[in-house]
Amino acid sequence: MDTINNLKSELGGKIANADSMDDLEQIRISALGKKGQITALMKNLSALDPEKRKAAGKELNILKQVISSLLDSKKNDLENISLESRLAEENIDITLPIRPEEIGTIHPISQTTDELISIFGEMGFVVAEGPSIEEDWYNFTALNIPVDHPARQEHDTFYINAKKDDQRMVLRTHTSPVQIRTMQSQKPPIRIIVPGRTYRCDHDATHSPMFHQIEGLVIDKTTHMGHLKGCLIEACRTFFGMDELPVRFRPSYFPFTEPSAEVDIGCSFKGGTLKIGEGQDWLEVLGSGMVNPNVLENCGIDSNEYQGFAFGMGIERMAMLKYGIPDLRTFYESDLRWLKHYGFQPLDIPSLVGRAGL
Ligand code: PHE
Repeated sequence: MDTINNLKSELGGKIANADSMDDLEQIRISALGKKGQITALMKNLSALDPEKRKAAGKELNILKQVISSLLDSKKNDLENISLESRLAEENIDITLPIRPEEIGTIHPISQTTDELISIFGEMGFVVAEGPSIEEDWYNFTALNIPVDHPARQEHDTFYINAKKDDQRMVLRTHTSPVQIRTMQSQKPPIRIIVPGRTYRCDHDATHSPMFHQIEGLVIDKTTHMGHLKGCLIEACRTFFGMDELPVRFRPSYFPFTEPSAEVDIGCSFKGGTLKIGEGQDWLEVLGSGMVNPNVLENCGIDSNEYQGFAFGMGIERMAMLKYGIPDLRTFYESDLRWLKHYGFQPLDIPSLVGRAGL
């Protein structure tokens, strides 16, 4: 009995003083483990007389239960203490001001592209895309610009090494090759809008070796010049947000369209400042025309059955005019101050709802 009582107070004292989970585990092993003190006493029972064995066995079982429950409650206490100290350490100071959040902006080129896609999208155009590295045939020949054509010189082309079959690859000088790719792969009626990067070997304040264009193509049986005009007048007025914006079609020349027209919008340059939509001056914004029958035939489309129109414009130019961005080079400098100033919040595409004709 004494042994049991002594052990009880010895273990009870140790458990009370344990100050970590590790300590407690050591005490448990030393009492109840395979070689523990209580386990050893249990083993010794068999050496006792049956009478004594019964009484001692009962006492030992009680001791075992007492020690187990002391261990459990101490374990609980230690867990609570560690939780409380963590809570005390990790408390959140809700009075601190929030950290300033760095919110990015949509680049004016992306914004302008999205706006134009959404304007033509409302008219039923779907987006088409093509490669930046293009075969000479798609960039020039199929567009009615044969090898000796003077228009080739005007394009300041970046040529890439000739391929095995002597076919030269180029960095596309305009988005027009996607017209050809689409007419080859789709049956009319066709109504596509093609945004993308274009490349010309030219670099100064108003030219960048890489820039962006957006191209449109409509092919159907009865599409005529009136459709071209209506579509582009509406698109210009919607883009610049002016119902009465004067729009003029000026005869021009492109090898892939016949007749061709450059599109000007009314403006004033008075006092050296550009004001769109007022005054007596004109500003060119895009090129257009009825698709040259040769181009249709190059794509396997019967030009007696089908006709259509195409147009193309520079996205940087449209962005500069609409948003008053004076220098083309700043588009590509990734200057965060410039991006903050000229950039847009996400989903900031002007609503087209309620516009006449859309
Ligand atoms: N591809 C022409 C250019 O880059 C623009 C254009 C496209 C003109 C379609 C007419 C029709 O200047």
